[in-house]
Amino acid sequence: MERTAASQNRRFTSFTVRQLSPALGAEILGVDLRDPIDEALKQKFLYAWHQHLVILLRNQVLDEDTQVRFAETFGPPAKITSGRTFSVKHPSVMLISNIREDGKPIGALPDGEMNFHTDQCHQEIPAKASMLYAIEIPSRGGNTLFSNAYTAYETLPEDIKHRIAGLRALNAYDKDSTQRTANYDNAGSSYWHPVVRTHPATGRKALYVNRLMTREIEGLPREESDAILQELFDYQEQPKFVYEHVWRPGDILMWDNRCTLHARTDFSADERRLLRRVTILGEKPV
Ligand code: SIN
Repeated sequence: MERTAASQNRRFTSFTVRQLSPALGAEILGVDLRDPIDEALKQKFLYAWHQHLVILLRNQVLDEDTQVRFAETFGPPAKITSGRTFSVKHPSVMLISNIREDGKPIGALPDGEMNFHTDQCHQEIPAKASMLYAIEIPSRGGNTLFSNAYTAYETLPEDIKHRIAGLRALNAYDKDSTQRTANYDNAGSSYWHPVVRTHPATGRKALYVNRLMTREIEGLPREESDAILQELFDYQEQPKFVYEHVWRPGDILMWDNRCTLHARTDFSADERRLLRRVTILGEKPV
């Protein structure tokens, strides 16, 4: 796409941060992601991201190469492990879409509502960041909700903090379900992680459980584990911790899976939804 003088100038206008909600999130203005990102700009992004947990840039025109290059600024992109290929050039690119060709979805996570989760928490080394770029968006619904896992942890009653201190939980992913299932025998992969993790860059503690994938707390009788998890899920999903993003084509969001969780609202099967996702490798949660 042709660059205009205005878009060239944007690089040199100010990098501006605008808070999106009291819970979390900030929009970054004044940056065109087709321009090179130097070290100073990278540090501005990182500072804003660590402060606000989710960053949004609007009106971006990004092909696969540009999106992957932006992701690489923050670390190595994670390869897709499901066995499906969405891009001939980039093994880290995943399409999230309900569009079907010959009856088969062209993307992953095609339809409807999704429970809260964090990306790849069922693996030993989960993604630290995920980026979603909006290409086609339904007229209503399909919004992505982000919850702040720092404030969820920090505001927990002291007795609950005490009960979960030092515990681990099993996270399992059933790729056929976007809602919690009672039985997780079909889970493709699973991993035990701390219930509370410490963010390696900020040093803050975050609640690291989620309704979609966290199945049981290690060492507790099943009923007790179910009851605590239910309490934690209900607590962390309260609207006061949540920002709801209403997508527009051209939006790119990058969220931190180490201190946020996300979910999706329902949308009509009759409308097309297409986003391009790249995740960035993280570290083993501690
Ligand atoms: C995801 O969980 O990565 C997908 C979120 C969405 O489709 O809004």
